[in-house]
Amino acid sequence: MRTPNSNIILGIDIGGTGIKGAPVNVKTGALTEERFRIETPHPADPHAVTNVVAQIAKHFHYKGPTGITFPAIVKNGIIHSASNVDKSWINVDASKFFHRHLGGPVTVVNDADAAGIAEMRFGSGVGRHGVVILLTFGTGIGSAIFCDGVLLPNTEFGHLKIRGKDAELRASERIREKKNMSFKKWSGIVSGYLAELENLFSPELFLIGGGISKKADKFLPYLTAKTKIPIEAAKMQNDAGIIGAATLAKIRS
Ligand code: BGC
Repeated sequence: MRTPNSNIILGIDIGGTGIKGAPVNVKTGALTEERFRIETPHPADPHAVTNVVAQIAKHFHYKGPTGITFPAIVKNGIIHSASNVDKSWINVDASKFFHRHLGGPVTVVNDADAAGIAEMRFGSGVGRHGVVILLTFGTGIGSAIFCDGVLLPNTEFGHLKIRGKDAELRASERIREKKNMSFKKWSGIVSGYLAELENLFSPELFLIGGGISKKADKFLPYLTAKTKIPIEAAKMQNDAGIIGAATLAKIRS
């Protein structure tokens, strides 16, 4: 399905509950086919996950550069942390591992960084200058920080402490659901967390993404920022990871 120098690149998003992929037109940020999703295997070790990733590429008859998100610290394709994934990933060169099964070159990127790249290029971050912080609320809390559109990768703000405990253990969407917390109550906790980030980074804009972003009307009215900067929902919702990973794979290919 791929011609040389094509602007159609496969993006795959590895999440705690599902692994989804779709070909992306990296000029427009649009998915060119309906996304294909397979449940995340358990345990989600390198072999099991790679098997699913290969099935997704096969589904689209795709061979070529591929962008893949991963919910951990990723440096030069190597996985350096494993908060919400199988510990056997630590120190694995994921880009080499996936490449062996996919054929084409593979770019692996932190999931929130990929979502941020998609939002800055095609979504709510377009034309926004200064410091922009995107937070994704899902199984964990992911973060991406940009200054004038340039990403500082692997920021891991989900592990900042709220009252002595990792923020993602108090305020991820998984915890909100598990504790049956109302959006109002959850927004109170998140507003405190945003205030902490404002103290540290003085952003111009917060973008809220991840699984929760499709319910923006339920929580945006309750979220407050300390210095009254805008807090907006990320536009690309659950496709952001796929689009950002594909975009980065194109830049690097
Ligand atoms: C991980 C991050 C990831 C975030 C969202 C955190 O537990 O440490 O790397 O971006 O979850 O998936």
